[in-house]
Amino acid sequence: MTSAPEKTQNPSTHALIGILTVSDRASRGDYEDRGGPAIHEYLERVLASKWSACVELVPDEQHQVEQAIRSLAASGCCLILTTGGTGPALRDITPEATEAICSKILPGFGEAMRTESLKVVPTAILSRQTAGICEGALVINLPGQPKAISECLDAVFAAIPHCVDLIGGPYLSTKTEHIAAFRPGTAAKKHSQQ
Ligand code: MTE
Repeated sequence: MTSAPEKTQNPSTHALIGILTVSDRASRGDYEDRGGPAIHEYLERVLASKWSACVELVPDEQHQVEQAIRSLAASGCCLILTTGGTGPALRDITPEATEAICSKILPGFGEAMRTESLKVVPTAILSRQTAGICEGALVINLPGQPKAISECLDAVFAAIPHCVDLIGGPYLSTKTEHIAAFRPGTAAKKHSQQ
């Protein structure tokens, strides 16, 4: 587990994004973590604004997942993307950990990701992925498969920048050839006048 950097000095121009892999086997070193790097690559591809990653890897233990999310949020992450542990297996507890520490749950993220993923793979229905707000950070669960990560993020990424605006985070902009961030009229206008 790598430690979280200090809170960023200027949150309006530089985003800190948490990438949390939840996996017993990757945390034991049985195999290499592929989910965390897949999230990193996705963000590099779609984000136009400045950001840096804060990377964590924990086993499927609820208290460790909760602690890792809280610590990433306390370090100033405006967005925390988790990967793994969303399914029906005995050890899968990422959604429970997310719900336990979020002050608001945003069920639309999970619904949209499952809806789009079901067009690609019937087993998408097995993911219990959810999202919520934890201490100023938007937390979104993703499945563990690298392929699932981009399928799921493609389904919801357009809404992430405005959600981060609404919780007081930095202004995230995207590379429009990949994802066009959607901000309702007044929010988009307000930023362009600054
Ligand atoms: N979603 C997408 N888009 N693509 C996938 O391949 N795999 C599913 C589902 N969601 C999948 C997906 C499968 S097989 C499982 S078991 C669940 O996510 C849970 O995965 P996790 O336990 O790695 O989080």
